[in-house]
Amino acid sequence: MAWNEQLYRDIMDGLQVDKEFITEAAGAFRWDLEQGLQGSEHSSLAMLPSYIGLPTGKETGEYLTLDFGGSNVRASLIRLSGNGKFAVSRQVRKSLVSEEYNLICAEATCEKLFDFLAQVIGEAIEGNQAQTYYLGHTFSFGSKQEDINTARLIKWAKEFAVPGVEGQDINALLTAALNRAGLDNVKPVAIINDTVAVLLATAYSYPDTRIGSIYATGHNTCYMEPMPDVGRPPCVLNMESGGFSKLVPTKWDIELDEASEQPGRQRLEKMVSGRYMGMLYSQLIRELFNLSTTPELSAADMSAIMGDEAEAARIVISLLGYTNSEIVEKLRELAKAITIRSARLVAATWAGTLWHLSGQGKIEPQHIAVDGSVYQLMPHVQENVRRALYEILGDEAGGIEPVLVKDGSSVGAAIAAAVASNGQ
Ligand code: GLC
Repeated sequence: MAWNEQLYRDIMDGLQVDKEFITEAAGAFRWDLEQGLQGSEHSSLAMLPSYIGLPTGKETGEYLTLDFGGSNVRASLIRLSGNGKFAVSRQVRKSLVSEEYNLICAEATCEKLFDFLAQVIGEAIEGNQAQTYYLGHTFSFGSKQEDINTARLIKWAKEFAVPGVEGQDINALLTAALNRAGLDNVKPVAIINDTVAVLLATAYSYPDTRIGSIYATGHNTCYMEPMPDVGRPPCVLNMESGGFSKLVPTKWDIELDEASEQPGRQRLEKMVSGRYMGMLYSQLIRELFNLSTTPELSAADMSAIMGDEAEAARIVISLLGYTNSEIVEKLRELAKAITIRSARLVAATWAGTLWHLSGQGKIEPQHIAVDGSVYQLMPHVQENVRRALYEILGDEAGGIEPVLVKDGSSVGAAIAAAVASNGQ
């Protein structure tokens, strides 16, 4: 199979984002954020109000949560005890895609999808219809909220394509499905984006946290805006930063975008998130070897290739039918280049957000809440995020502490349910 060495060098060059590039990216991100705050059509950031602020840390009680935003859904029972303490007493996790069914593709139906969610919730409470449960729902797609419990899906992302859901009130769909399942005792009271959930969960124990980010299958960031609008109280804004479109893409980013479910949308997400890094890697391998079909390598495969030479050789054999150490090394370097570019671009968006929060002053020391498999598991990500923050922010990066949040989506949803149900 023909290996195209010149193309390899061009790709490796194209994937470099140097200090100047990421510093400009951070500036452009801040500009878009501030334009978006003023409602300018020139911003590529949605800046969606979440109708919730940061927790006090005193929220307590037991809540039911639903985490829906990727190919797995989770329903959990979470007990909040205050002072940053919580316990997950029960958790049910199910895949929306299996050999027998696919509930997220264009052929799926809205009703089947929500009936399935209701079923997972039913399992989490073991069918108990006697007790009232307040449910916090982490729904990880860009939605326009009208209040803490009403969110209309704007557009699917992450290659979800179920018809009949865009434009709908998601918790109304869920409530209808719960009613069909006889679970009228489950009361959805809050719906939040996963970035918001992660921010709430972290701020519950680290009150200096202002930014929450998901770095996983998808990518997005939210932050606590002290002045969202004249007359509005401070509020967490979901930026839908995966939609940031002010970076110059490479020819290969453009090809990937054109082949995706929603061309033209989620341009940053398609350069940095796990779902798309795997697609980009696969597409580049096809071009480099002039293969007739595109292999289906995921970000997890990229991690394996980067992390372990023997595993890399095994994957190369499965792709090409043979292996040699030079090819293995080059494919490892390619995976690394895609991953490092991703980490540096994500860091640039965080730096732009920190600049906005600091105004003209110094950046306050603070935690940044991060959740997601890419941040947690992919080799090279965490150290390159940190390095890029230093390149952009200099010494001020020393006060910035990204923290990896576990169960952030569920704990954040429980906090939102606590805040929302106290008022009932
Ligand atoms: C996609 C969604 C966004 C979500 C992110 C991470 O970008 O549009 O709402 O936060 O994925 O799950």
